[in-house]
Amino acid sequence: MSTESLYELMSTQRAIRRLRPDPIPEDVLKRIMQAAAWAPSGGNRQPWRMVMVHGRDLKTRLGELYTRRWNTFVTGYRKRFTDAPEAERQQQERTIAAGDYLASHMGDCPVVAVVCFNPQFMAVTDADQDRVSVVGGGSVYPAVQNLMLACRAEGVGCVLTTLLCMDEPAVRELLGIDPDWFTAAAVPMGYPVAGGYGPTARMPLGELFYRDAWGAS
Ligand SMILES: Cc1cc2nc3c(=O)[nH]c(=O)nc-3n(C[C@H](O)[C@H](O)[C@H](O)COP(=O)(O)O)c2cc1C
Repeated sequence: MSTESLYELMSTQRAIRRLRPDPIPEDVLKRIMQAAAWAPSGGNRQPWRMVMVHGRDLKTRLGELYTRRWNTFVTGYRKRFTDAPEAERQQQERTIAAGDYLASHMGDCPVVAVVCFNPQFMAVTDADQDRVSVVGGGSVYPAVQNLMLACRAEGVGCVLTTLLCMDEPAVRELLGIDPDWFTAAAVPMGYPVAGGYGPTARMPLGELFYRDAWGAS
């Protein structure tokens, strides 16, 4: 396991979409799963489950579904950057190339964690607000983040994806997901093809945090 500090791990835990087919040893995978299980959730109900997909045919089918959604997504994504500076557009093209690789190789990566949730076990305290509800996800995605940070600590690459949620009925059928459970994410996991990890580009603290009042520094 990595001896790097938690901060080093967090600051270099970027999306890794080029994954090698080499298996993840069972003990490594177990530690990663344990990290996910340590995550907090509303009322400690843990309203999530992960189907750890190892089966070749299952991953290939997930990859086929994903590819269709990814290709559609890329068309819109490219349009967003038509007028962007050259350097930014080149960065986006690199991301797209990595995404293309993931889409066409999902069947090859050793594990895809399909994250499911059950709203019956969620305290959705913003359900009555006149806007999209997000609180329920707060009992699911911390487990995904723990999983991903543990991957980083173990040298395993991964990326949080949500495009497959658009194909929930097909994924449900493929994996035999219980009717009371729904999909929140799919996290392909595997050792990075190249270096993989590196510094993440994020907004500065001053734009993300305010002091005492909205917008105040
Ligand atoms: C809610 C959510 C959904 C995402 N869905 C996808 C996805 O479907 N496919 C994908 O390749 N990346 C997906 N990502 C990864 C983001 O694109 C990535 O985290 C972001 O661009 C930052 O990239 P970086 O960590 O490499 O800096 C998703 C991330 C989040 C948090």
